[in-house]
Amino acid sequence: MKASVLIKYGSADFFDLREVEKPVPKDNEVLIKVQAASINSWDDDILRGRLFVNRLMVGFFKPTKIQILGCDIAGRVEAVGKNVTLLEPGDEVFGDLSSSGWSGFAEYVCAPENAVVLKPTNMTFEQAAAVPQAGLLALQGLRKGQILPEENKAREINSGQKVLINGASGGVGSFAVPMAKLYGAEVTGVCSTEKMEFVRSMGADHVIDYTQEDFTKNGQHYDLILDVKGFHSIFDYKRALTLKGIYVMVGGANALVNQLIFLRPWISMTDTKKMSLLLHKPNKGLDFMKELLEAGKIVPVIDRCYPLSEVAEAFRYFGEGQARGKIVITLKHNSKT
Ligand SMILES: NC(=O)c1ccc[n+]([C@@H]2O[C@H](COP(=O)([O-])OP(=O)(O)OC[C@H]3O[C@@H](n4cnc5c(N)ncnc54)[C@H](OP(=O)(O)O)[C@@H]3O)[C@@H](O)[C@H]2O)c1
Repeated sequence: MKASVLIKYGSADFFDLREVEKPVPKDNEVLIKVQAASINSWDDDILRGRLFVNRLMVGFFKPTKIQILGCDIAGRVEAVGKNVTLLEPGDEVFGDLSSSGWSGFAEYVCAPENAVVLKPTNMTFEQAAAVPQAGLLALQGLRKGQILPEENKAREINSGQKVLINGASGGVGSFAVPMAKLYGAEVTGVCSTEKMEFVRSMGADHVIDYTQEDFTKNGQHYDLILDVKGFHSIFDYKRALTLKGIYVMVGGANALVNQLIFLRPWISMTDTKKMSLLLHKPNKGLDFMKELLEAGKIVPVIDRCYPLSEVAEAFRYFGEGQARGKIVITLKHNSKT
């Protein structure tokens, strides 16, 4: 089968479209014919060799344990292992394979049956592949920030809560903005000048251009700050929260992660505000997200699609920071690409 293999860390120049062995499903796995896979910033971090933990997972000096990136996939089940009970050949599925071997930028991938669920029938494979990781980071972050009810809890949520999404125009933001609106929040999106109109078009009530204004210093206070790209200090964020406000870090600078780890216990003892770090749980909430997608309440925003042969080009575009929403790799089987 064809796959886009990452041969070394550094840049998109090191993707190589190659013939590799088609995987064979283990007893608890399904073999999926990939129809689409999306790019997440985690793929980009790995490509560039960022973060010690990524190198531990993928290979210290070069990608050895995982050579094919791509964790968000949508496709059709082609074969099943002998212990698989939930899925059968022909099923159309989607999911996040970040805890089960990645390898989505390929014609076929194997995954444990519980790493994927049936794809919403009203969506294309491209739309479905855009959802799992970015959509669930948004969902899990809004749940942690108590804007959406926790799983299996029919708790009342106060509408009209003021939510700020820092990094509103990218993958996570393009789910978080409409989802927070859906649950009655007053949403402020933070992004660059060029993307303000896009963030407004997703329903944000207010948009802040981070090149012109520092939202931590403008005197406004928020019940939740969902931080997709955190570069401020923990004290700046705390200042921008209401008295019982919650800060949820999804991603950002290492310095901020360290501040959260070491200062959070002290803040929680001395303050009513809550500072927290989201630890992504792959596919947790995917069934709930599927309901929102099937009801047409959330629609993924895809900026561009690229064929498998142009994975490198897709990452170059992603790296330029131009994308609004998600970038998807499409696999046209039996065609030249
Ligand atoms: N917590 C976990 O377990 C976990 C797991 C996986 C991933 N992550 C993290 O989740 C995040 C995923 O992000 P994504 O997929 O949405 O990335 P993305 O598609 O690259 O979007 C990045 C967003 O950040 C914005 N941004 C860039 N610089 C900014 C700044 N200085 N101030 C405010 N916003 C800024 C961009 O806005 P403009 O384009 O307008 O500049 C864009 O909206 C990453 O930070 C990743 O590290 C966390």
